Amino acid sequence: MAKAVKTAYVCSDCGATHPKWAGQCAACGAWNTLQEQVPAAGPSGGRFAGYAGDGGGQGIRRLSEVAPESASRILTGLNELDRVLGGGLVLGSVTLIGGDPGIGKSTLLIQAMALLAEQMPVLYVSGEESAEQISLRAHRLGLPTERVQLLTETCVERIIELARQHRPRALVLDSIQTFYTTELQSAPGSVAQVRESAARLVRFAKQTGTSLFLVGHVTKEGALAGPRVLEHMVDTVLYFEGESGSPFRLIRAIKNRFGAVNELGVFAMTDKGLREVSNPSAIFLSRHEQQVAGSAILVTREGTRPLLVEVQALVDQSPLGNPRRVALGLEQNRLSMLLAVLHRHGGIGMFDQDVFLNVVGGVRVTEPAADLAVLLAVLSSFRDHALSGELVAFGEVGLAGEVRPVPAGQDRLREAAKHGFRRAIVPRANRPKTPIEGLEVVPVSRVSEALEAALG
Ligand code: TYD
Ligand code: MG
Repeated sequence: MAKAVKTAYVCSDCGATHPKWAGQCAACGAWNTLQEQVPAAGPSGGRFAGYAGDGGGQGIRRLSEVAPESASRILTGLNELDRVLGGGLVLGSVTLIGGDPGIGKSTLLIQAMALLAEQMPVLYVSGEESAEQISLRAHRLGLPTERVQLLTETCVERIIELARQHRPRALVLDSIQTFYTTELQSAPGSVAQVRESAARLVRFAKQTGTSLFLVGHVTKEGALAGPRVLEHMVDTVLYFEGESGSPFRLIRAIKNRFGAVNELGVFAMTDKGLREVSNPSAIFLSRHEQQVAGSAILVTREGTRPLLVEVQALVDQSPLGNPRRVALGLEQNRLSMLLAVLHRHGGIGMFDQDVFLNVVGGVRVTEPAADLAVLLAVLSSFRDHALSGELVAFGEVGLAGEVRPVPAGQDRLREAAKHGFRRAIVPRANRPKTPIEGLEVVPVSRVSEALEAALG
């Protein structure tokens, strides 16, 4: 007698297959690693569904015989979104948009779809909100809703069937955690469901050349809920950042097969939805009336655009045996490292001090070019001595106390000059070949020189 197709439970560490779920993998002993999976059988896909090359087999060819095809793009009409996508939406691409609940993912997509609908058929599928809720929002935002097709449905098979009939060129799925495939018994939102549903939708998108947007919520740990695997399946991963208290919303490209990573789009959440901020450079500066100790201005570069941000530090006598090192918007380990460099190469120890560090406005700075500004902010707070309000700094600091060059120094300096800064402390190799009007550049090669120049 033929058995019905059953799902299997596969250990994500060792790959062993089990017929039943268990807390511990009997093969390798790892805990909580068993995940439900559809057996990889039949043309309908299974495990490898969703890969771009799937199904298009043409045998082995010489690379030189394959005609290069540049991605054709379409502008969504939201410039900042186009920017993070790498210069417009690539037709047939799959984009994952992640972020905390309530940050504005659905708002962004309904705005983008309303604009895109002017150019091509779009379908917005929601598994979270009712059609009436979406309609209410669209009307409140004053969006043209005439051409936007809407579907509230959570079964992936059904969605794909309807999409095949209606042939949208852009398809939004909000959010991937609410959809399920009938192949699996586990609940919507489980890792297996999210992965398998996404795989099916990605495959559909690739087969039909539909541009797909998947919305994903974020777990408390900050990973896109459940599956990092989703990140491998898609072409582009966009991530919403921002503080709940601030109206600014940043969208960062974490992965982009069609553009620069770390590209940043800036929006402001208003009562009329998300508004583009096309010149964001100065919004993250708090412009103190009087200069305060512990604040340094950094010229960072996110993707292809320089950005001025304020780094704030508070250094205070610690009551604890093990003083705190807290960094918001910057990497904590980097802070510890910089404090060690400061001690060793600047002769300033902070063993009995708590050090708090924050980047104003909820920006996350991921590049080491922030090092110099961090050190200046920390020392400024420690000495209770304000830095000049006309000073900017950038540069990577090495463990030997050297200041290393960073990419696009010239761009950063020009941006600083444009915003009225008069003095810049930069790595020696980043000093400009031709002087920049109105900006005094102080090239340094050692941490000690930088500290001397700023706080001397
Ligand atoms: P939403 O797009 O629903 O978030 P997500 O899909 O990421 O969960 O955004 C909802 C939040 O945005 C909510 O807190 C209200 C706020 N908001 C505005 O401030 N103005 C607006 O015009 C809209 C539509 C939402
Ligand atoms: Mg939403």
